[in-house]
Order: sequence, then C-alpha cells, then structure tokens
Amino acid sequence: MMTDHDRRRAVASEYAQYACLDELLHLQWPRTQAPAEMSFIITTQVMELYFKLLKHEWTAACAKLEAGDIRGAVVDLRRGHGVQDALIASWEALRTLTPGEFDEFREAFGAASGIQSELYRDLEQALGVPYPSRGEDAPSLEASAARALERRGFDGWLAAYRAADQNPDLFDLGEALYDAAERFTRWKQRHLISVWHSMGEKKGSAGTSGAEWLARGVHQKYLPELWNVRSEAWA
Ligand code: HEM
Repeated sequence: MMTDHDRRRAVASEYAQYACLDELLHLQWPRTQAPAEMSFIITTQVMELYFKLLKHEWTAACAKLEAGDIRGAVVDLRRGHGVQDALIASWEALRTLTPGEFDEFREAFGAASGIQSELYRDLEQALGVPYPSRGEDAPSLEASAARALERRGFDGWLAAYRAADQNPDLFDLGEALYDAAERFTRWKQRHLISVWHSMGEKKGSAGTSGAEWLARGVHQKYLPELWNVRSEAWA
C-alpha cells in the first residue's frame, strides 16, 4: 500500500521529471573553490534562460504582428516586460560581489564573456540592431511592427501617434515596444553598475576597456523612432 511518504515522493519525482531538475541542477560547475563563483554561474544561467524566454515571447509577438493581431502582440510584449523586469532584478544576486571575491575566480574563466552571448544578440536584432553576418534567424520586432503600421497606412510611428484617437491599438503597440526597448537599456545600466562594483575600471575578459566600453553602449537607443517621437508634438 502507498504511504503518504511514498505519495509525496512520487509527486516530487513527477515534478522533478517535468522540470528536468536532474539535468538542470547538475549544470553548475565552478572552476575554482571560490565561494562567490556559484552566484556568478547561476546568475549567468538564469539570465540566459530568461533571454530564451524573452526571445520566445518576442517571436510570438512578431507572428501576431504579421497576422495583423495587434492586441495579441501587445499581450505578448507585456508578458515579455515581466521577463525583462525579472532579468533586471536578477542583478541583485550579484550585488555583494567584491573585486576581491571576483578576482578569486576571474582568471579561471579566461576570455569567456557575456559579449559572446548569442541569445543577447538575437534580442538586440529583434530590437532592430543590424548584424548582417548573423543572418535573419532572429525575429524582428522592428520589421514586423513596421509592416503592421504600413498595412494600416502609416509610414512611421509619428503619423500613427498623431492619429492615436482613431488607432488606439497602434498607440498601445508603440508604447509596449518602447517599454521593451527601455527595459533592455535598464538591464544594460544595471549591468554597468555591477561591473563598476565588482571590477571597477579594469579591462574586460573579452579584451574591451570594460566599464568604459559598456558605458558608451548604455547610450544606445533601441527602436530609436519611438524615442524620437517624444521630441515631437503629437497633437
Ligand atoms: C559582476 C559580474 C559581471 C561583470 C564584472 C561583467 C563584465 C563585463 C564586461 C567588462 C563586459 C564587456 C566585454 C568584455 O570585455 O568582456 C561585459 C559584457 C557583457 N556581459 Fe557581463 N559581466 C558580469 C555579469 C554578466 C552576467 C551575469 C551576464 C548575463 C548573461 C552578462 C552578460 C553580458 C553581455 C550580454 C555583455 C555584452 C554587452 C553588450 O554587447 O552591450 N554579464 N560584461
């Protein structure tokens, strides 16, 4: 007969199977004995998983835009905003990493750097950054939204914003895209703050100047048209 304990184990095991916990929880391999390395590896993995989820939501949003379902695309983008908020909050797990603690394992990962993240580039591509050498695999929110606007007779965001009263769905779409772009930049700002905290102005592992290089990137505007309309009169 199945005892309560057996039942609980069976449930736990279904849970573990469903979430592939055996695989997931055996993917953390610190290269050193440094206590802080685990938080660095897990935060990196968590962020890559969230990048994957965000790409998933943005791919769904692009498909809806191509099908003319603007409201549906806005729902997907809002779900993406939640993922982006979680991404920004994930920096908190590294907030106490001191330069001394970081130096204990920095050499062990060699020239590895987040600059090599393919998913991060997919997301930038979705926000309209051209990477000609990477091909067209990633979804493009910028291109899909431009086509959606065009099909409704608008040649850009300013015209659509000025006609917001008759086209509230397009206005909501523009603002949801802007919110995604802004959150992407906020993740970069938070990254820079962590870099200042954990390695100051030292050079990056990929060979860039480090914080100085990242600080320049923080000024980059994704989906710039949606930032530029903010300098124009909408009425
Ligand atoms: C305190 C911990 C971290 C430090 C000190 C740090 C440092 C740096 C530095 C110096 C760069 C510039 C490129 C280089 O020369 O390496 C960089 C780029 C980058 N890092 Fe980090 N990083 C940290 C954590 C993370 C984490 C957890 C992720 C998550 C995946 C990440 C993702 C990235 C990405 C995507 C870039 C490229 C940014 C761009 O091209 O705009 N970093 N990082």
